[in-house]
Amino acid sequence: MPASNPTASREPATAPADNPSGPGGLPAANGAPDAGGEMLSPGALDAMTRAAAIALAGATDLDALAAVRSAHVDGRSAPLALARRALGGLPREERAEAGRRHNEAAAAVRAAYDTRLAELTAERDARVLVAERVDVTLPAEHDPRGARHPITAITDHLIDVFVAMGYEVAEGPEIEHDWFNFEALNFLPDHPARAAQDTLYVDPPGSGLVLRTHTSPVQIRALLERSLPVYLVGPGRTYRNDAVDATHSPVFSQIEGLAVDEGITMADLRGTLEVYARALFGDGLATRLRPHFFPFTEPSAELDVQCFACRGDGDRQPCRVCSSEGWIEAGGCGMVDPNVLRACGVDPERYSGFAFGMGLERAAMVRHGIHEIRDFVDADVRFGAAFGIGG
Ligand code: PHE
Repeated sequence: MPASNPTASREPATAPADNPSGPGGLPAANGAPDAGGEMLSPGALDAMTRAAAIALAGATDLDALAAVRSAHVDGRSAPLALARRALGGLPREERAEAGRRHNEAAAAVRAAYDTRLAELTAERDARVLVAERVDVTLPAEHDPRGARHPITAITDHLIDVFVAMGYEVAEGPEIEHDWFNFEALNFLPDHPARAAQDTLYVDPPGSGLVLRTHTSPVQIRALLERSLPVYLVGPGRTYRNDAVDATHSPVFSQIEGLAVDEGITMADLRGTLEVYARALFGDGLATRLRPHFFPFTEPSAELDVQCFACRGDGDRQPCRVCSSEGWIEAGGCGMVDPNVLRACGVDPERYSGFAFGMGLERAAMVRHGIHEIRDFVDADVRFGAAFGIGG
């Protein structure tokens, strides 16, 4: 079938066009077959139409269809395109009829192509619909959200309360010099808190460096660095050589408070501690000071806050929050010892002050009913989830 072979049919199709039908428009001499005319014969056009139909039916996807389109429908070397080019080579009297036949064949092929295109497009769309279906009933992907650690949350809350009263936030290093941690705070050289069982010393021996055992060295740094009056809170991590158990950890957190100004009295300390107690445990709880000893405060006391769960009421005990004591131990406090003021170059005749230092894990444990101090550092998501961490 010459018509279906573009390479074979090109020569005969163009040759007569270049040299139509011999001089004077006469039919080609020697009666050689008129290749152009043959391509436009009803049989040839019919064969082209059928070949195109077969190729279109064989195209099973849109890519294959695109190839068939160029080979059979409107490609430059599609048989129908070649046949159309041959039209010009026909004698005028045959041209109209052949042109009409060619148009019919071309329209039929184009219609077949359009039908197949619609079918394959519909098939493709149906496939994509299934493949890309979104099942909105599947559980959503879940990125666990972070949240602040409970110690951070308590610290931030207390900072907010004290900053609202005009306090500043001060910090100091966790590896601290012995002088700031003990000496300037009026610890005598043989004070038991300095003994190896309490303090973690930093190598080499005699470096004079310790892991700070409390946040009180922040008092010294602040008094040396800042001008008076000083009102500050100093939160941070502290270290002691304690064996780990449910309520002891070698690393824990404190928040230090310091106020040094003219005319500060113990009444100011009491009032400030009440603000602290309210911020942590709620309104209307009594506070009491139990006499105690700290080298750097005089007088010194331990702060107790009335238990928010039983309020010391025997009818509401036994109480797990305060072990039926009725009171919660909150931390140490007192009036800044004149020796401390002097060590920092502050005149104790003119200035006075108070200080307090509270353990934050303990506060958080009481507040949230946590029984294990280790939970704060174990990074177990089952603990954190209650505080919105990784939940
Ligand atoms: N630094 C003391 C401690 O860790 C607490 C404290 C701070 C006491 C400030 C009095 C004043 O136990």
